[in-house]
Amino acid sequence: MKLIDGKLVSAQIKAQIAQEVAILKKEGKKTPHLAAILVGDDGASQTYVASKVRFCQEVGYDSTLIQKPADLSEAELLALVESLNHNAEIDGFIVQLPLPAHISAEKVLLAIDPKKDVDGFHPENVGRMLLGLPCYLPATPLGILKLLEYYQIPTAGRHCVVVGRSHIVGSPMSVLMARNAPIGNATVTLTHSRTADLAAITRQADILIAALGKPEFITAEMVKEGAVVIDVGTTRVADASKKSGFSLKGDVKFDEVAPKCSYISPVPGGVGLLTVTALMLNTLQAVTNRF
Ligand code: GUN
Repeated sequence: MKLIDGKLVSAQIKAQIAQEVAILKKEGKKTPHLAAILVGDDGASQTYVASKVRFCQEVGYDSTLIQKPADLSEAELLALVESLNHNAEIDGFIVQLPLPAHISAEKVLLAIDPKKDVDGFHPENVGRMLLGLPCYLPATPLGILKLLEYYQIPTAGRHCVVVGRSHIVGSPMSVLMARNAPIGNATVTLTHSRTADLAAITRQADILIAALGKPEFITAEMVKEGAVVIDVGTTRVADASKKSGFSLKGDVKFDEVAPKCSYISPVPGGVGLLTVTALMLNTLQAVTNRF
């Protein structure tokens, strides 16, 4: 069993990005500038956004964090998005999800200029991804592709089973694994909460991508001997032994599944770090290779 080391892969990509930024600056070109809008005080969202800002500093990007209270109106948020759409200084921006219940995430994502939508959530980017046109790929699926690429895990002709059909991970992941690309050409099964006899399907997976958000849902009897297992889950579970009061749990019961795998990504230390890294790759693309 080999551990997929998100820290290692992220550090390597980070170094490449930092090198490219140094070249941009030396040539007098624009420094990439990422903005993030955070509405409310969700603890996990604050952690994610803080790690995005930190990453920007580490690679030499400019960053702007716009924090708003949970009672911000939908109209105010839409006006803020519109101002960033027209701000030439900002190359790309994200609106951290989830948003408070009184704000329609759909409406807000639709308002983002697709050319600045470095999260790849706008319907135009989703459509472009489906058609294989230049676009921003959603960060977590792009990060998973980077992990598969780094470890040279073959995908062509293999059976990839994705568990979970979210717009952010499961659905786009199924599209990307099936497309005609170097990391792709897999035979893909997309499973979800209504799938009958899920274990019978996951046991057929050469590559199993767990993205359903249920801690330790995938057990050893659901995994084929020698499978590659990618764990996307990051659920906060109460843990009195931790200073923070919680520990991060993946969707895979790591201790019993790991011995059966050829490769497995841990939580924490796996996919999560690549999500932020992929967002930074998209931000670089916003400056150097805007479609
Ligand atoms: N919430 C959970 N994941 C993401 C993400 O990739 N981007 C944004 N904007 N919000 C999220």
